[in-house]
Amino acid sequence: MHVIVLGAAAGGGFPQWNDGAPVACRAWAGDPAAPRRTQSSIAVTADPPGRPGPDGTRRWVLFNCSPDIRQQIIATPDLHPGPALRQSPIADIVLTNGDIDHIGGLLTLRERTPFGLWASAAIHGILRDNPIFNVLADGVVDRKVLPLQETATIAGLEVTLFPVPGKVPLYMEGAEVEIGGESEATVGVAVRDPQTGGLLHYVPGCAAMPEHLKRRLAQGDALLFDGTLWTDDEMVALGVGQKTGRRMGHMSISGPDGTLAQLADLPVAHRLFVHINTTNPVLLADSPERQAVEAAGWQVAEDGTELQL
Ligand code: MLT
Ligand code: MN
Repeated sequence: MHVIVLGAAAGGGFPQWNDGAPVACRAWAGDPAAPRRTQSSIAVTADPPGRPGPDGTRRWVLFNCSPDIRQQIIATPDLHPGPALRQSPIADIVLTNGDIDHIGGLLTLRERTPFGLWASAAIHGILRDNPIFNVLADGVVDRKVLPLQETATIAGLEVTLFPVPGKVPLYMEGAEVEIGGESEATVGVAVRDPQTGGLLHYVPGCAAMPEHLKRRLAQGDALLFDGTLWTDDEMVALGVGQKTGRRMGHMSISGPDGTLAQLADLPVAHRLFVHINTTNPVLLADSPERQAVEAAGWQVAEDGTELQL
């Protein structure tokens, strides 16, 4: 399979529109060591370039659809429309949660070109409860429930959703918010190419690392994982917010409970951080935090980063 990171940043992108803190200022200034990044999404195909799918084109599956989707399509020639007058190589879209950074782009794809939209029943419920998503007309966009732990073949890829510790989307939080529960609200995805045997795990949001999850992730050839924050209190310490990573439903990269420590011995060839928040110093190519991540065998994804599995 061929994987393209369309957007490596977390909600809001890098730099976020109102972020004047030091890391973001490097991106605002156009510093080549701080490349800008769009919001969280990847594209995957099982169709090799010379061997297209049944309708003669390569079929791409998007995992999440960010508000930056139009810009991401423009930046990715494989996703340009054609060959028919109204046709897109985007055959299907799979959602991992209901965050705005993962569903907002669906509103951009409203010009009555068919695609399959796959998610847990809970995430489909959120879309149904928000009538603005009815622009994705029934009869054009095929909404399909993918129950957790069941495998569906989507454009030639075997796709399985599995629960990870998380929470409901920010805009659905009530007075009491359960953080770290495993439900249909936040999932990871296993993507397997039955022709090559390549296995990718994509987990853009994860609040903690239980043993069962560690065991699952150890099976794959590649892991694209939640790199939202470097330290749990990063935004508090910078004075740009009150929330910790944990409160946002994201484990951090550093620290004893962090990803580098928890997944230190993970026997996975390609380990990349995605969904990176605008405050995270690993975004800077010359930071000590980036050095620490790379010394631990991880990569910090950029928009356009590709993998062949
Ligand atoms: C998150 O991943 O924490 C969310 O995308 C936050 C948000 O909705 O901005
Ligand atoms: Mn997010």
